[in-house]
Amino acid sequence: MSKGNKTLTMIKPDAVENNNIGGILKMINEAGFRINAMKYTRLTQAQASQFYAVHKERPFYNDLVSFMTSGPIVAAILEKDNAVEDFRKLIGATNPANAEAGTIRKVYAESIERNAVHGSDSDDNARIEGDFFFSSLERS
Ligand code: CMP
Repeated sequence: MSKGNKTLTMIKPDAVENNNIGGILKMINEAGFRINAMKYTRLTQAQASQFYAVHKERPFYNDLVSFMTSGPIVAAILEKDNAVEDFRKLIGATNPANAEAGTIRKVYAESIERNAVHGSDSDDNARIEGDFFFSSLERS
């Protein structure tokens, strides 16, 4: 099956608060991703609950929703061959303690929750998450 060429990222509230938008976008561009759509916004409780609905039964769900609504984020659709897999390599492990050198989370994440960036985990979710944030008018 051919791999998709788009993924959805969020620069999370910790990284926005710490003035790391520029540094993270630089790493993303230098790794060969192009920005197809981008916005600075703040998720409501309802939006964050919907975005993370797949984690509803997890013990960290309420904390996660509360963290993700605690401040503004940057959402973007990124474009590159094999985007989902390559972006997950670039961001590194969910827990920054396990993230490899040179990954975004190794450089910028504070903890498993305040982990700087999100990346879609499959081509299907990349489409769903891209549609969650962006209308057709907002994409190139
Ligand atoms: P992300 O992969 O963007 O989407 C799910 C998020 O849940 C994950 O990033 C983490 O930030 C967050 N999270 C918080 N606690 C945990 C945990 N114990 N295990 C996995 N994910 C967690």
